[in-house]
Amino acid sequence: MYDVIVLGGGPGGYLAAERAGQAGLATLLIEKNKLGGVCLNEGCIPSKTLLNSAKIYDHARNGAKYGVTAENARIDQTAVVARKNKVVKTLVSGVGAAMKAAKVEVKTGLGEIVGRDAEGVVRVKVGDETFEGRRLIVATGSEAVVPPIPGVKEGMAKGTVLTNREILDLPTIPKTLVVVGGGVIGLEMAGYFQTCGSQVTVIEMLDHIAGAADREMAALLQKAFEKQGVKFHLNAKVTSVGDGFVEFEEGGATKRADAERVLMSVGRRPVTKGFGLENLGVLVERGRIVTDAQGRTNVPGVFAIGDANGVWMLAHAAYREAEVAVNTILGKRDAMRYQAMPSVIYTNPEMGFVGETEETCKEKGVAYRKVTLPMSYSGRYLAENEGGEGRIKLLIDPARNRLLGCHLLGSYASEIILSAGVMIESEMRIDDIKEIVFPHPTVGEIIREAVFHA
Ligand code: FAD
Ligand code: NAI
Repeated sequence: MYDVIVLGGGPGGYLAAERAGQAGLATLLIEKNKLGGVCLNEGCIPSKTLLNSAKIYDHARNGAKYGVTAENARIDQTAVVARKNKVVKTLVSGVGAAMKAAKVEVKTGLGEIVGRDAEGVVRVKVGDETFEGRRLIVATGSEAVVPPIPGVKEGMAKGTVLTNREILDLPTIPKTLVVVGGGVIGLEMAGYFQTCGSQVTVIEMLDHIAGAADREMAALLQKAFEKQGVKFHLNAKVTSVGDGFVEFEEGGATKRADAERVLMSVGRRPVTKGFGLENLGVLVERGRIVTDAQGRTNVPGVFAIGDANGVWMLAHAAYREAEVAVNTILGKRDAMRYQAMPSVIYTNPEMGFVGETEETCKEKGVAYRKVTLPMSYSGRYLAENEGGEGRIKLLIDPARNRLLGCHLLGSYASEIILSAGVMIESEMRIDDIKEIVFPHPTVGEIIREAVFHA
C-alpha cells in the first residue's frame, strides 16, 4: 500500500514523486518509457541543445560585424544530435538518482488504472502486478496532434513527415522544410533549420504566428525570421502532402511549397486515454482532465497535473502543479496561480512574455497603458547585437499603477522575463520597481528604462 502512486515520469510526475518521497510518503512512480518524459527526452532539453548549436553556428558565420572572422564554419548535424543525446542521458540519469535519494520506488511499464474501492484506495496495474495507493497523481502528459491531411500518414510511415519526436533526431539538414503550424515548436524548429541551411516555409492557419504571444511582438518576431529567410504563409490551409512538396490554400489560390521534410506542429493534446482513467469516473472536458486550483479532479484522492490537465502545457507549470498537489496531500495550504506564468520561445531572437497581452486586456475589458522601447536602450544589448531590432513592451494598469504584462524580444529574454514575473506576482507598484537596482550593464536594465519611460 503506497501513500501516493504517480502515473507518468515527466517533469510533473517526477517532481511530484520526489516531493512526496522527501516528505516521507511511501511513493511509487510508474513510467512506461523513460524518466524525464517529453521535456527531457523529446521536448524542452533536446530542442534547446540543438538551438544552442545553431546560435554558435550563426555567431561563427556572422562574426565579421564584431571583428571576428571564422572561415569554413559548418554545422555537423551528426555531432549536434550526438551531443543532444549525451545531454539528455545525463539529465535522465539525474532524475533516476533523485528518485533514489527521495526513496521513491520506480516501476517501468504502462500503468493501467483498475479502479477505486469504497475506502478510496486506487489500484493500478503494471503488467501482471497490481499496486494500491491512497492517492493517485495522474501526470500522463501530452502527445502531438497529427491532423488527417491526405498524405500525412503515408509521409510519416516513410519518415518524411515528422513530429517533434523525429525532427530532434534528424541525421541531416534537409534542403527544404515545411513547418505546418507557426506555434512554439514550429518557430523553434524553423529557426534551427533555417540557420543550419534549410529553406524553411511556415504554413499557419491563423492570421498570426506564436499563439498566445502579444500580436505586435509576434509580428516583430515574424519580421526577424523573414530577414533570416524563413517564408510565412498565414491564413493558409494545408490540403495535402505529397512526395517532396506540400499543397495549401491561401487567399483562394492553391499553392505548393517544396518540402524534403515536413514538420507537423499544430498543437498537443493531453493523454487521457488508454490507461483506464474512465474506470475512476474522472471528469474530462474538451480532452483535458478537469482540476481545481489544488490539482484535484472530481474524484476524491485523484489529482491531475502538468500537460494532462491542459491548463498550461509548460514544464515549469507542471513543476509548480506537482508541488501544489503534494502540499495538498500533506494537508498544507497551497494553490496554483497562473497570472504570472512566464512563456519563452527560444528562437533567435528570443521571445519572453508574462501576464496580459494587449489582446487579453481588450478581451477582459482591462484598462492599460503601454510603453514600448527598442532594446538598444540597453548598453549591453547594443554592444552584443549589431543591427538588432529587439523590443520591450510593458502594459501597465493606470489606476493601480502596477505591471499587467511584460513582453520582450531580444537576447536573454528567457532569463530576464522571470524578474517581470516576480513584479507581477508580488503586485509591485511601478514606483517600487523604480527603486530596484539592476546590475549594469545588463539587457535586463531595459525593464528599468521602460518603467522610467512609463
Ligand atoms: P510529459 O513530459 O509528457 O510526461 C508524461 C510521461 O508520462 C511520459 O514520460 C509518458 O511516457 C508517461 N506516461 C503516460 N501515460 C502513462 C501510463 N499510463 N503509464 C506510465 N507512464 C505513462 N516546456 C517548457 O516549459 N519549456 C520548453 O522549452 C519546452 N519545449 C518543448 C519543446 C518541445 C519540442 C515539446 C514537444 C514540448 C516542449 N515543452 C516545453 C513542453 C513540455 O515538454 C511539457 O509541458 C512537459 O513535458 C509536461 O510535463 P508532464 O510531466 O505533464 O508530461
Ligand atoms: P502551439 O499550440 O504552440 O501551436 C500550434 C499552431 O498550429 C497554432 O498557431 C495553430 O493555429 C496552428 N495550427 C493548428 N492546426 C493547423 C493546421 N491544420 N494548419 C496550419 N496551422 C495549424 O502548438 P505546438 O507548437 O505544437 O506546441 C505544443 C505546446 O508545447 C505549446 O503550446 C507549448 O505549451 C509547448 N511548447 C513549449 C515550448 C517553450 O516553452 N519554449 C517549446 C515547444 C513547445
